[in-house]
Amino acid sequence: MTRHLRVDGPNHDDRLDHMAQGVIGQPLNRLEGPLKVAGRATYAAEARPRNLAYGVLVQAAIPAGKVLEIGDAPGALAVIRDKRMVRFAAQGMARKAPKSGPDGIDYMGQAIALVVADTFEAARHAAQNLSVRYAREDVPVNPEDVTPELPPKKQSKTGDLDKAMQEAAFSVDQVWHTPSQMAAAMEPHAAIAEWDGDRVTIRAGLQMLSSNKEQMADALGIRPDKLRLLAPYVGGGFGSKLGINAESVAAAIAAQKLGRPVQVSMTRQQVFDLAHRRSETRQRIRLACDADGTLTGLGHEALVSNLPDDGFSEPVTQATPFTYQAAHRQVVHAIARIHRSCAGSVRAPGEAVGVTVFECAMDELAEAAGIDPVDLRLRNIPEAEPVTGRPFSSHKLTEALQEGAKLFGWSDRRPAKERLEGEWYIGIGMASAVRVNQLVESRARVTLVQDGSAIVETDMTDIGTGTYTILGQLAAEMLGLPADRVEVKLGDTQFPPAAGSGGSFGAASSGNSVFLACEEIRRQIAKAIGCDEGDLTLQDGMARAGNVSKSLSEVVEGTITGEGHLEPGKTEKSHRQATWGSHWAEVAVNRWTGEVRVRRMMGVFACGRVLNEKTARSQCLGGMTFGIGIALTEAMEHDRRDGHAVSRDLAEYHIPCHADVPPLEVHFLQERDAYVGPLQAKGLGELGICGAGAAVLNAIYNACGVRVRELPATPDKII
Ligand code: MOS
Repeated sequence: MTRHLRVDGPNHDDRLDHMAQGVIGQPLNRLEGPLKVAGRATYAAEARPRNLAYGVLVQAAIPAGKVLEIGDAPGALAVIRDKRMVRFAAQGMARKAPKSGPDGIDYMGQAIALVVADTFEAARHAAQNLSVRYAREDVPVNPEDVTPELPPKKQSKTGDLDKAMQEAAFSVDQVWHTPSQMAAAMEPHAAIAEWDGDRVTIRAGLQMLSSNKEQMADALGIRPDKLRLLAPYVGGGFGSKLGINAESVAAAIAAQKLGRPVQVSMTRQQVFDLAHRRSETRQRIRLACDADGTLTGLGHEALVSNLPDDGFSEPVTQATPFTYQAAHRQVVHAIARIHRSCAGSVRAPGEAVGVTVFECAMDELAEAAGIDPVDLRLRNIPEAEPVTGRPFSSHKLTEALQEGAKLFGWSDRRPAKERLEGEWYIGIGMASAVRVNQLVESRARVTLVQDGSAIVETDMTDIGTGTYTILGQLAAEMLGLPADRVEVKLGDTQFPPAAGSGGSFGAASSGNSVFLACEEIRRQIAKAIGCDEGDLTLQDGMARAGNVSKSLSEVVEGTITGEGHLEPGKTEKSHRQATWGSHWAEVAVNRWTGEVRVRRMMGVFACGRVLNEKTARSQCLGGMTFGIGIALTEAMEHDRRDGHAVSRDLAEYHIPCHADVPPLEVHFLQERDAYVGPLQAKGLGELGICGAGAAVLNAIYNACGVRVRELPATPDKII
């Protein structure tokens, strides 16, 4: 039986806080951790079917135009050109094959063919020696070279910001630039496809199997029920595996043509070309306030880029409408259509760079107005969503700021350039954290077995975030079992379709579906022992109600199965849903070289119920580390002549390494959100990134008096 819930109203039930087993929220170790450290968790490229052939993607060497001719590839089994594999790298939306057809090229580095051979080395050699004749077209590759689109739905204006700026006691009007960024997940994209008659099984690194299945069926031109996707272990995604990419489509096409399984793995450099990037942004922020720091006007104008026919654009201003109050407001969202690689969702699309820049502007306004940066924010937190008046589902920005200031020692802050230790200026900075929250439809099946064990099955993925563990914990809690008695099976489209991992919605969405499935099982147990579900206590394999106490093996005959189906409902619209927090950083800036070292960093976060304190904390540590990257190191540079990615491996694209990251401190505020389903848990994965870089940049200013508005803040921009 399926228990279905549409989240149309509040849920104030505090049952999960008082369950007998007491495992929810506990900092359990990852269930699959031992498999991963022992090398026994098989990632996409690690399966070894018999008779496997290897494909290497061939990439366009021109920014736009056509392939006229491709030469032979001695030593290869095949050179495959097929319009279905040309370009599939989007943010997770189903994409149609590009209009340009099999020979069309939209950006330099795009996949144009696949060379297949008996070994990877032979395929790579043949691919490198392939001669390709092109007809090149001249196209714009730099955002400032085109007149941008202004989609009407993405612009908004309330009041008169220009006037508010003129009449302001204090104001800021500045422009920031952030470069293209890459997800750069540890596991490069890879896929192995194998056909059995008209059915194909594809193992790949993917984040959202149920939508990936639709996309793949569409790409290959087959029915979804002929397709099985497997992604039991995924070595990180950060958005780059939200949608299907060229490697999995190419592997499926080649495997069908050759009648044998085919693996296609990208090199690290290929990932930088073929997986999508985060768009570079140009952001103009205008802020106006009166003498006591009350914001009277705010404006956020963003320019981003993408390919001419792509539906995604970096939602830079996503949190701007509801973070701070101000009567006069303006949001501008402009898209430059240029021929760099596809731009898509990367690690907190929107807020990662939008909140970061906005929070730098708030620091500048605080400075201009002579108001403490924390106070400026506290004075401008709205009671309800500005303009619409919608209530917040839960809102803990005030507490996050106050608690953070106390824990970090904010009152010790001194004016800029006043702390010099040897040759290092020391400074501290802070920023608000905010990220939109959403639920996504999700299903799961749970089976309780007579021996007192349980199995959770859903096509949800665990991209390193801890999904196996939290879903196991939830089932253990609800069914009264020790956590090690629950087996969790994920990453297979033969299981019920789940939300997938993306947009911070994975844990709460799939967790709610497991909760509902377990509720259904509890209903059946209560019925079997003749009590109300509400009177039932399940603990350590025992069922108790009143003075009845039975072991589950007495109650369960064979197995009991329950399915859960969660759907977002009216609360999506009735309430503004977001997660909140605050970021704090202390940096040292070398007065001679401009080198920045982050000495201390702390985040305070409110995300509703925390499902596992350890995996939740790890998400925040990762997010804050990316914040350091955004502030100090990460930049994907494009060649200005042809748009192609110049920094395209981890030697040139600088992710913060261990020496760049001090011990990070994470605190969670106690919170239950009634409007986001029975778990009362919101998304957390991306909150740690949003604004983290601003705390670092504001600390740099406090240390040495330099504002860097051209990210990242490398030494040359500080010295
Ligand atoms: Mo995320 S960038 O939605 O994986």
